[in-house]
Amino acid sequence: MFLISCLVVAYLLKLARHYYRTYWSHQRLAAIPQPPIDSIMKGHTTTLNKWKEKNKLLDLWIEWHNTYGDTFVFFLSTRPILWTADPASLKDITTDLKHFSKFDGLPNRSLYGQRLVGTESILSGNGLGWALKRKVMTPFFAKTNMEELYYACKPHMEGPELKRWKELIKDGKKVDLHDQLGITFTSYLQVMGFHNFMNSELIAKNVFKILEALPKQLSSWLSYLCSNDKEETVNMIHEMRSEAKKAAMEIHRQTVRYKRNEQSMTNINMLGFLIEANNKNGHGKRRSVDDTVTFTIDDIMTICLVMDNMVKQITSLFMLLNDEPECQRKMFAELRETSIDTFEGLNSLEYTEKCILECLRLRPVLTRGTRSYKFKNTEEGKVGNYVITEQGIRIVFSEYVLHHSPKYWENPDKFNPERWFPGFVPEPFSYMPFFVGARGCIGKHMAMMMMKLTLSVLARNFDMVQDFDPKNMPDFTQEFAVMRLINKVDMWVEPYQPEQGC
Ligand code: HEM
Repeated sequence: MFLISCLVVAYLLKLARHYYRTYWSHQRLAAIPQPPIDSIMKGHTTTLNKWKEKNKLLDLWIEWHNTYGDTFVFFLSTRPILWTADPASLKDITTDLKHFSKFDGLPNRSLYGQRLVGTESILSGNGLGWALKRKVMTPFFAKTNMEELYYACKPHMEGPELKRWKELIKDGKKVDLHDQLGITFTSYLQVMGFHNFMNSELIAKNVFKILEALPKQLSSWLSYLCSNDKEETVNMIHEMRSEAKKAAMEIHRQTVRYKRNEQSMTNINMLGFLIEANNKNGHGKRRSVDDTVTFTIDDIMTICLVMDNMVKQITSLFMLLNDEPECQRKMFAELRETSIDTFEGLNSLEYTEKCILECLRLRPVLTRGTRSYKFKNTEEGKVGNYVITEQGIRIVFSEYVLHHSPKYWENPDKFNPERWFPGFVPEPFSYMPFFVGARGCIGKHMAMMMMKLTLSVLARNFDMVQDFDPKNMPDFTQEFAVMRLINKVDMWVEPYQPEQGC
């Protein structure tokens, strides 16, 4: 009896706390528009889950954005989320790193309890440690370094990687583009210091598996506990991390040797740069070899995951082109007519670039971003025009919603490469597939270079025609920040025979 009474009291106290917190959060943020809540207990969670199930979460945000304006608050149970598409707020988020930090609870730092990318990877870290790392990595990813990297990647794509594609299709074959591009883009790592790492097929397979498992971990405790691929996924990460350790140790030895001989590392050795970047901690103090290697492993895992962004982007391009055969014909014609023997040649692919930019607009792989907003107790919190009293409130912005806004884009849902006419500059903060500012994508120049190079080599050697299953058309999920593709993206690929003149 006593136990039951205690349980009842505990439950009532929890309920009271829930009501109290929700009520005061609503009060404190009352000046900011809010969609009507489902219930005081659930906030907007029921609505959000319903739209998630329909794979329409981003459409719900578009609807809320059209109804409530550039900034609104919604509640995940008691937790308020400030959603913004307001240019002034976005400007602050991109420039003010002191107050807006990467959300400290990023769930993808471990998966099923196995360390995945650690807490200080270049993607998810914050503060001085991140700043130092970014500074060391910047010369590798700089636009000025892309020419050298291009001349290293081109023979790889035109050599072993093309050979793999040719063997794969021989006289013609249906291939899943997503799977094959996974291997292609991962294989570029081999020219960037990762030659002692796993083979590309295994990396691609593991990355897809990990990305599939991440949402399961997030969705609920029950699906987390019952997930039957837990062991397999944990083993995969374990294997990747131990292979990454071997590759990192080897490059670490090499860099020490270079230093001893006063030689410098090549500018295309990304792994060497990662070792350098992890050599010191956030206070500038040198780390032990073991620590350097451990932090480098986190970054190797991060790089493997972000390389997949290019896979999703180019696969999405072919999904969009399925409804735009004339654009596909024009893009392939340009790719076949243009010599990419020089870096200038690659950069002269104007129409192809327009198609990629348009794909980045309509299907940005990163559909949204999250930041945590913190301010000193002596300061007044402010996001755009709104005063914020919620310390550490989560801020969400959505590249996808901005890219589909009629406020900035004429006929926003139409795939129209021509809108990228020479001299066209989108409104500030209306187009940010790579985000912008200090926390913008460090790999954007590399991604553009590799995506064009891959398309060029494929188009000059193969005919590629979409062969999607009409009953299971490829699509993308709106549920997670990083876009996921659903259903097979089948393409009929056969050797390209240029027409011979008579
Ligand atoms: C089409 C391809 C890609 C797209 C669309 C893309 C997009 C983005 C976006 C939107 C962010 C900001 C995320 C946020 O803070 O909310 C980001 C960050 C980042 N990206 Fe990319 N990315 C791509 C490819 C790559 C590649 C190939 C690399 C490197 C190999 C890379 C490395 C990074 C890193 C390290 C960050 C974190 C930067 C920091 O916080 O300092 N990305 N990317």
